[in-house]
Amino acid sequence: MLVTLEGLDGSGKTTVWEALHDTYPDATFTREPTESWYGEAVDRAIADGDADPLAELFLFIADHADHLSRVVRPALADGDLVISDRYSDSRYAYQGATLEGEVKRPMEYIRGVHQPFTYPPDVTIYLDVDPRTAMQRSGATNKFEQSKYLTQVRQNYEQLMEWQPERFVRIDATQSPEGVLDDVEDVFERILDGE
Ligand code: TYD
Repeated sequence: MLVTLEGLDGSGKTTVWEALHDTYPDATFTREPTESWYGEAVDRAIADGDADPLAELFLFIADHADHLSRVVRPALADGDLVISDRYSDSRYAYQGATLEGEVKRPMEYIRGVHQPFTYPPDVTIYLDVDPRTAMQRSGATNKFEQSKYLTQVRQNYEQLMEWQPERFVRIDATQSPEGVLDDVEDVFERILDGE
């Protein structure tokens, strides 16, 4: 089973992902961008304020393709629980926002590029936080962490949840980190019990 964590920067998803290591020590924990050289190329694009948005999208997608073949698919084939801090929805939401006005219907376009080869998550936990709180928490350290941009990213996540309500679980991430973690652990208990 593949469970992904999504949300704005500062939603606390990395903290949750780290805490889950103790609860599910046998799971495969992974993240996007990855630590491979593709992931390093992605980090360079993130740090470059002038990166071409379409070129950047395809770097993220290259990293995803490598992540799938090297980590996600082998772990799933072994029957592992795979927990990923960010995954395809980050592209749909974030690059969906950077490509606004560059290509027609950017979210549909990016989903269309993924569709033939990606492995869709079984469950996606969305840590919902408003852009203001997200920015205060993350310290707005990279080009994606700007208010107007994050407002669009959040709208894109809302659109994704509207399209596929059965895949998403929304959690209020404005509460305390302990509260968020409790809610996330409840979700894991329910999904692992097969509910
Ligand atoms: P991440 O490493 O999760 O951020 P953090 O620095 O909070 O740990 O992701 C780095 C940035 O890249 C983040 O601002 C979100 C963005 N991102 C995308 O725009 N598209 C993607 O597909 C992914 C995976 C991340």
